Amino acid sequence: MPVSAILTAGPIARARNGVIGRRGKLPWRLKSDLAIFRAVTMGKPVIMGRKTWDSLPRKPLVGRMNIVLSRDGSFEPHGAVVCEEFSEALSIGREQAEEDGQAEVCVIGGASLFGLALPRARRLYLTEVHAEVEGDVVLDPIDESQWREVRSERHEAGDEDEYSFTFRVLERL
Ligand SMILES: NC(=O)c1ccc[n+]([C@@H]2O[C@H](COP(=O)([O-])OP(=O)(O)OC[C@H]3O[C@@H](n4cnc5c(N)ncnc54)[C@H](OP(=O)(O)O)[C@@H]3O)[C@@H](O)[C@H]2O)c1
Repeated sequence: MPVSAILTAGPIARARNGVIGRRGKLPWRLKSDLAIFRAVTMGKPVIMGRKTWDSLPRKPLVGRMNIVLSRDGSFEPHGAVVCEEFSEALSIGREQAEEDGQAEVCVIGGASLFGLALPRARRLYLTEVHAEVEGDVVLDPIDESQWREVRSERHEAGDEDEYSFTFRVLERL
């Protein structure tokens, strides 16, 4: 069993212009990327912002502890643990991961959560969507001088994937 589960930023998908969301939803249809998201996160605790929780078409995400960050003390969603502090979310996630023999706790968005996770993350799962799209939630640029790419897989657009995309894994130097 791992001594301490590491924090990952993502999986998260961004467009070329940094957009990750539009009107509370994903701004694209990428079935293959959803399958990657499921494969990467399955069994692991996932930490998300309250708006990302609201955006999930089916919740909680099954087979994973769902941890939701919210400042609303009266928010009690069914099937999720709510935390008011990121550090609390992280320690609950780590405890659960270690109990389950999982090596990672994943921060799955949105933009502010990604910002909180990035400085502390050891691994980054990033889907680069090969398009510029309109949206109202944008990820801050990532300084890649701190990171080394260890995997990069291109997926072509198709019937179920609106755009081509590249799934990348980066590790902190
Ligand atoms: N492309 C992708 O991979 C991806 C991934 C995730 C989400 N998304 C999209 O992004 C959008 C949602 O993301 P978002 O950035 O708008 O919102 P978000 O980060 O999911 O949620 C923001 C909320 O989280 C809570 N929160 C944030 N920071 C906190 C802190 N430090 N302490 C306590 N609570 C905190 C607050 O909840 P309260 O208001 O309840 O206090 C805040 O309103 C949707 O469109 C979704 O589809 C895309």
